[in-house]
Amino acid sequence: MTAAIAAVSASAAWKALVQHQREIRNLHLRELFADDPARAERMTLEAAGLTLDYSKNRITDATVKLLLALAEQSGLRARIDAMFRADRINVTENRAVLHVALRAPRGASIVIDGENVVPQVHAVLDKMADFSERVRNGGWKGHTGKRIRNVINIGIGGSDLGPVMAYEALKHYSDRRLTFRFVSNVDSTDFAEATRDLDPAETLFIVASKTFTTLETMTNAHAARDWSLGALGGDVKAVARHFVAVSTNAGKVAEFGIDTANMFGFWDWVGGRYSMDSAIGLSTMLAVGPENFRALLAGFHGMDEHFRTAPFERNLPVLLGLLALWYNNFFGAQTVAVLPYAQYLKRFPPHLQQLAMESNGKRVTLDGEPVACDTGQIYWGEPGTNGQHSFYQLIHQGTRLIPCDFIAFAQSLNPLGAHHDMLLANVFAQAEALAFGKTPEQVRAEGTPDWLVTHRVFDGNRPSNMILAERLTPATLGTLVALYEHSVYTQGAIWHIDSFDQWGVELGKALAQRIIPELESGSEPELAHDSSTNALIRSARRLKRAPG
Ligand code: F6P
Repeated sequence: MTAAIAAVSASAAWKALVQHQREIRNLHLRELFADDPARAERMTLEAAGLTLDYSKNRITDATVKLLLALAEQSGLRARIDAMFRADRINVTENRAVLHVALRAPRGASIVIDGENVVPQVHAVLDKMADFSERVRNGGWKGHTGKRIRNVINIGIGGSDLGPVMAYEALKHYSDRRLTFRFVSNVDSTDFAEATRDLDPAETLFIVASKTFTTLETMTNAHAARDWSLGALGGDVKAVARHFVAVSTNAGKVAEFGIDTANMFGFWDWVGGRYSMDSAIGLSTMLAVGPENFRALLAGFHGMDEHFRTAPFERNLPVLLGLLALWYNNFFGAQTVAVLPYAQYLKRFPPHLQQLAMESNGKRVTLDGEPVACDTGQIYWGEPGTNGQHSFYQLIHQGTRLIPCDFIAFAQSLNPLGAHHDMLLANVFAQAEALAFGKTPEQVRAEGTPDWLVTHRVFDGNRPSNMILAERLTPATLGTLVALYEHSVYTQGAIWHIDSFDQWGVELGKALAQRIIPELESGSEPELAHDSSTNALIRSARRLKRAPG
């Protein structure tokens, strides 16, 4: 039980922001920049290898002060300390939230219930490293004596999105002799396409599931077992050579038939969407090797320390969180576009979607009272420059306000002619175009006929952040993910919500369990749903029998 929490929107800081927004909402970024040559310099920060330029936001110095006051008055400092102190801040599940312990250096101490968990974390990392080396150097053999050439991670949600994002992001550093695939969907197509051209004798499955009960993962894991054993002579001893598990649930792992010696554990204080740097990242370590994986963790840790210690006015995750909240709560923006100008980050937006939306998609506060303001924005995005030829039209000239986070790297990992300068020119140009637009006078001066002028005007004043780093390395990736993890927590702390539970996923799961036998039944089942669901089930049963 927590003490009753006053609505954040009733705080003096919130009310001051409402008033302030009325005063500055018509200010244009053109004026803000023209009147203040030092704006960009003042509103650019560097930390843990990342540069954040937040000058192209619809803010003044006063806005930043008021947002920082909101953070202070909402108790953000205490909430950050509570997380690092291992308080049970996930109140509805009565759990500590300690993904920061996953990347704490050897020798650090983070104590839960009287026990320092850091040595446990490193024991698992060491076990992962040993296993990864054996697979990578061919020492770990399949059942028939062949070396492992294919790794398939079976998992969903946090047991898939982080690993697949990290694999794609760090492909440059991966061992290209190994093939990696990721199966998540209970749609059998996912499994069929992932396995169709692979030799079971050379294929290792990682069954990744915190609970080891998730319908999709267990269904795919059983399909994988059948696929393996079917091709390897049905000898159950083959499971030990072709299956490893990543889970917190040793009992269920053993029940499935995986030797718990081949299990890599983690803990209930690691949330699924915060687990990519736990053993859930085994596929990442297999791909890039233990040393790169440790560099990834060091990147995370660098941002953790920055978040924990930097004053809020120089704290990147705090500022990023406050700016997203500024548009969400004071301008009525509903979404944030995350636009990495890096093809390797193509799966970064989906990872961020679970991170942000499963964390902050909440309608009650920590004490169960309805929230008094909007929470959880919709995060979405695609890599640039592809998105420019798709949805950017709406961001530039549509009627909605869509704050954008651009992510760019100064150096390419695959230099090729002028490609990278073109890529960078595009990301900078987009931020410039969004902020400053193009006036009717400028359009007319180009000789545009009068009737076409309004169509070609760009209002500008569309906000964005620019996150710039030298190069996409394992460490940079860790820093970037931790930046967003902590900005999500910053917002959740200000909204006084539990950013670490996910009760909203339960109802659909339970209803599906009821419908499965109704679809499978040989005889016409008694249906007691609403008329729409009943009719859909009957139609699907009829259509299932139609000749293909
Ligand atoms: O359904 C949501 C969820 O619980 C996520 O929070 C989690 O990441 C995912 O399912 C997978 O869960 P598990 O790792 O237990 O299979």
